[in-house]
Parts: sequence; structure tokens; C-alpha cells
Amino acid sequence: MVDNLQHQVAVIGAGPAGLYAARELAVNGAGVAIINRDIKPGGLAEYGIYPDKLKMKDGLRAQFRQILAQEAIKYFGNVSVGTHGDLHLNEFRDMGFQAILVTVGAQGTKWLGLPGEQLTGVYHAKNLVYHYNNLPPFSEQNFAIGCRAAVVGAGNVMGDVVHYLTCEAKVNEVYTVARRGPAEIKFDKKEMEVIVAHLDMAALEKEIDRVAPVMRSLGQDPEIAKELFRSIFAKGLPACADTHFVMDFLASPTRILGDENGKVIGLEVENNTLVLEDGQVKARGLGTYRVLDVDTVIFAIGDAVDSGLGLPIAGSEFAKNPSPRFPIDGNSYEANDPKGEQDLSDIFVAGWARKASTGLVGIARRDGTNGAKAVLQFLATRPAIDDNPLKNLEKRLHRLGKPAVAKECLGRLLEAEHQKALQLGVDDFKFLHNQEMLSVMGLS
Ligand SMILES: Cc1cc2nc3c(=O)[nH]c(=O)nc-3n(C[C@H](O)[C@H](O)[C@H](O)COP(=O)(O)OP(=O)(O)OC[C@H]3O[C@@H](n4cnc5c(N)ncnc54)[C@H](O)[C@@H]3O)c2cc1C
Ligand SMILES: NC(=O)c1ccc[n+]([C@@H]2O[C@H](COP(=O)([O-])OP(=O)(O)OC[C@H]3O[C@@H](n4cnc5c(N)ncnc54)[C@H](OP(=O)(O)O)[C@@H]3O)[C@@H](O)[C@H]2O)c1
Repeated sequence: MVDNLQHQVAVIGAGPAGLYAARELAVNGAGVAIINRDIKPGGLAEYGIYPDKLKMKDGLRAQFRQILAQEAIKYFGNVSVGTHGDLHLNEFRDMGFQAILVTVGAQGTKWLGLPGEQLTGVYHAKNLVYHYNNLPPFSEQNFAIGCRAAVVGAGNVMGDVVHYLTCEAKVNEVYTVARRGPAEIKFDKKEMEVIVAHLDMAALEKEIDRVAPVMRSLGQDPEIAKELFRSIFAKGLPACADTHFVMDFLASPTRILGDENGKVIGLEVENNTLVLEDGQVKARGLGTYRVLDVDTVIFAIGDAVDSGLGLPIAGSEFAKNPSPRFPIDGNSYEANDPKGEQDLSDIFVAGWARKASTGLVGIARRDGTNGAKAVLQFLATRPAIDDNPLKNLEKRLHRLGKPAVAKECLGRLLEAEHQKALQLGVDDFKFLHNQEMLSVMGLS
């Protein structure tokens, strides 16, 4: 942070939203301190995007490096913020930061509260995604993936998880379980091309025939759904394992069945129909049930924000000021306490922290930039800085008893990982433990 800056902002979280927000703040004259839970920056761009999309990941990594190279931007990785974190959100105000922009993504897991969710073999997609993308501590955890898996949800995360289950875990059978029908799938055609070779097309056409009366009752054409899958199949990549992949529609999970050892032995689902309500197609349970013969259940139904961050929550998101002082594109980027007990007027939210599980990196980038614009408008109403928040932050971090990773150290980590990749003859290498990363940076 350069000394003559008028305003200093703490950005919490270094995913795409936080990094592009920091750039917007810095080019407009503010000093920025980024605090990030993970040692490395990038968030889900580093630890979510499927590992084989290396060209995309490398392109984003290069952009993130450029952003962090700006003098007005400081980076402190390996530091978590929250009620049980290394630093409390309110501390940043006390240190003298004039605004706090929260871009921590959606780190909470959304569970349905079903019997059996605690069984061995039941996982939330985000944790598995972090595991196969080598993010500590998920990289160190054991995921008991069996032979027959059900993946709940019909979005792109479902697609990535099926990709992993087929090509890496090489399970025998994968069922995807969608509560609505073939016309309400959320995944992109392009993403499905990677896994479609495993899809049992005959079974899929039969499944579409099964749900066809419900589709027709809503004016949907089952033939269009079949055509869509045929067109994906025509462009599909070759199979990477013998996995048999089946899609199940109009089914909502109701219970996970376990054996006497606490292991999954089945997923009970309720059959649904579809109804049109306020112009939206909604699933309605029919009160009839069936059991899928699976030993693994993965919920890919989106994420919620982290309730431990210290901000009030509304639904699966942080509460936002319904009448924003600084709306951008009609959106509120301002944190809010619906009970009116806390003054949060200097706290802003952007990216998946503002709208959980919404959109690709490009959307997070735009949202981070817009969040920064709202912060800049707020800063314009504030007097110039009369404190040195960065010094206060550094003193506070010193007392943590663990290293905060500065951007100057990240180069050493990247070089060590690059050398390791060359040694092993792989395209990309990541250390699985924080301790290893700290050690190669000379921080432990
Ligand atoms: C499985 C998966 C695959 C995806 N694949 C693609 C794809 O192929 N292409 C594409 O364009 N988009 C993809 N996306 C979407 C994309 O990753 C997101 O749009 C984007 O990463 C959201 O950015 P964000 O900065 O809001 O949050 P995140 O990327 O989640 O970043 C949050 C950051 O906050 C930090 N943080 C979290 N909690 C704290 C805390 N308490 N204190 C301090 N720091 C904290 C984290 O360390 C992280 O760095 C994918 C998403 C998922 C889930
Ligand atoms: N490769 C990629 O490009 C890639 C990869 C991963 C993620 N992403 C992006 O990241 C974002 C999040 O993806 P996502 O897949 O997590 O979310 P998503 O696209 O919103 O899909 C979530 C799925 O879960 C279902 N679901 C939600 N709540 C449910 C419940 N209570 N019971 C049963 N099913 C439920 C939804 O069904 P309904 O439709 O009925 O609500 C939907 O099928 C998206 O923007 C996605 O495009 C991109």
C-alpha cells in the first residue's frame, strides 16, 4: 500500500470476485489489503474448475498474478476471517480500514436435512471438488467413493462430479437425480460433451418417454429434449472408463439408507410431477417412493454462504440492504442487519458471497468490479485516511502465531510446484498440505 493513498479497503477473499474488485479499487486510487483463507489466490478458479481445464486455469492465474503485482494491492494468504477465524470482521474497522468488501464465495454446505445424511458415503459436491482439486485440508481427507453413486442435481457441478466419478474414481454406475424434468436441466451442453459417452442413451430415451406425459401437460415437447441429448452425444468425447451413466428425472431424495456399519446402501426418492406456479415450473411430490441401489450419494445442489463469517444471513446468502445507497446495475452490494442491531454501512459483498452459486468466472469478475464501484462511491463520501491500517494489520497478523503469506512469497511456491511438475512429468502439480507449501516458501 503506498503511503499517500486517501482510502484503504480490506477485501476478504481472493477468488475472481475479490481479485477483480481489488484491481478496480486500486486503479481508482484506493489501497487494498486482500485477506485470503487459502494460501494461494484464485478461489474456485484454482480449486473448483475441473483440473483438466488447464489452459483456462493458467490464463486466469496469469491475470491474477498481474493484479497482485500492483503496488497498491497487498496480499495476506493463509488467514481466515470469521467468528472462529484468525481475525474477526469487525477488527478491520478498528484497524482503520474505511471499507470492507467481503468476497469469500459461498463456503457453507447446503444440506436438505434428510435422514441418513451423516452416513459414510454421503458428501457435498463442494467438498469433493475441493478434494480432487487438492485444496488443503480437503486434499487430506478420505472420500469413501464406492461402486454405484447417485449425484443429486442437474447443473454444471453435477457434470464435473460425474466427470470425476467416471474418469478418476471409475465407478461402475452413476445415477443423476433431478427433481424436475429434462426441460429444466441447468448444465451446459458443452460441459455434458465430456461425459456423454458414458450415458446410456437408450435408457435416457426411455426415461424421457416415462416423464413425457408430465412434460406435455406443461406444453413441453419431449422430442426436443431427446434431440438435445442426441446432439450432445454426436459431439461427445470418447469414454474414459466403463462407467454406466443413467439420468433420473422427477425424483427428490427423501432418505439415505444405511447398513449396520453406517455405510450407504441406497437412496430413497419420491416421485414428482411438475406444476406451473407464478410462471415457474415447480416439482411436487406424489407420495410414491422408490430406492436407488447406490453406495455413494453426492449432493450437487448449490452452496450457501458461511454462517460463521460474522454477517447476518437471509436464506442461503448474506443479508443485503434492500434500499442500497450505492446500487450498481440495480443491485445491492451492501451488507445489512435486518434486525437493525449492527451498523454495517462500511461492509459490502460481491461475487458468490453476494449471490451464492451463481454464474461463471466472468460473472464473478463483473460482480466483483461492480462491488468495488459501490465501495468507491461510498469512499467518496468519507474523509481521507488518518491512520495506517496496513501497519495495524501487519502487527495483528504478527500476533497470530502462524505465517500470513505475502504475494512476494507466492512466486517461490509456484516455482517449486513447476519444478515438481517437471520432475514428475505432469502438466500441473499442487502440494497437498499447507505445511509443504509454507516450507517451500521458507515460512516454516
Ligand atoms: C465445481 C465448480 C466448477 C466450476 N467450473 C467453472 C468453469 O469451468 N468455468 C467457469 O467460468 N466457472 C466455473 N465455476 C464458477 C466459478 O468458479 C465461480 O464463478 C467463481 O469462482 C466465484 O468467484 P468468487 O470470488 O465469488 O468465489 P470463490 O471463487 O469461491 O473465492 C472465494 C475466496 O474467498 C476465500 N475465503 C473463503 N472464506 C474465507 C474466510 N472466512 N476468510 C478469508 N478468505 C476466505 C477463499 O479462500 C477463496 O479464495 C465453477 C464452480 C464450481 C463450484
Ligand atoms: N464447467 C463449468 O462451466 C461449471 C462447472 C461447475 C459450476 N459452474 C457454474 O457454477 C454455478 C453453480 O453450479 P451448480 O451446479 O452448483 O448450480 P445450479 O446450476 O443452480 O444447479 C443446481 C442443481 O441442483 C438442484 N437443486 C437445488 N436445490 C435442490 C433441492 N433442494 N433438491 C433437489 N435438487 C436441488 C437444482 O434443481 P432446480 O433446477 O430444480 O432448482 C439444479 O438442478 C453455475 O452458474 C454453473 O454454471 C460451471
